[in-house]
Amino acid sequence: MNVFEDILFLFNSKVHNRKFVRLNFLEAGLLFKTARKSPGDIIEIGTKIGGSAVLLAAAAQDNNKIYSVDIIPHRSRLKGVRLDKITPKKLIGRINFIVEHSTKLAKRWRIKMGMIFIDAEHTPKALSEDIDAWKPHVMRGGYIAFHDIAVAGTKRGIKQSKQLHKVVKKKLPNWIVEGQAQSLLVLKNPE
Ligand SMILES: C[S@@+](CC[C@H](N)C(=O)[O-])C[C@H]1O[C@@H](n2cnc3c(N)ncnc32)[C@H](O)[C@@H]1O
Repeated sequence: MNVFEDILFLFNSKVHNRKFVRLNFLEAGLLFKTARKSPGDIIEIGTKIGGSAVLLAAAAQDNNKIYSVDIIPHRSRLKGVRLDKITPKKLIGRINFIVEHSTKLAKRWRIKMGMIFIDAEHTPKALSEDIDAWKPHVMRGGYIAFHDIAVAGTKRGIKQSKQLHKVVKKKLPNWIVEGQAQSLLVLKNPE
């Protein structure tokens, strides 16, 4: 079983610490905790470089599989430092990287999931489509985690954040708030 300390390098690499993983420390803690208690396999929507997929791989129970999908192949090379070179093999080797559009993948998906981490395009339309596509695949007691759901600071950011929350509330009215850390929201499926 891996521990949070195994992935501290993601936040302490020579390149800027948010290049490999687009999460800050509090968000990473909540995501880790949720992935650890996931009752089944985990899929991430939005790989980017792959840092958060590594975090999920470190957190997940040994019997749960990890998938990460992106429309663009995950860029393992960044400013001369390769994520797959600095990440322990036992972690990177756990991740099933998929290159496909998330909603297209959802149509042919057959596995009931313990956790979905939605971190793709942060527009109300894209979020709404991802929820519609992936909600049926979450098992009872499973989770959906949303990143960048609260974009504070600018007027535009606050407006966007309100719109995204509205989408989540409308699409998942009975889901229970399991946790929130800055811009990460985790809901639990009660159905
Ligand atoms: C914010 S980044 C993901 C960051 C990553 N989860 C992390 O924390 O390190 C968003 C990614 O979602 C991908 N993306 C956007 N829309 C998508 C879709 N419909 N299906 C799959 N990937 C998508 C983008 O190509 C981009 O790499």
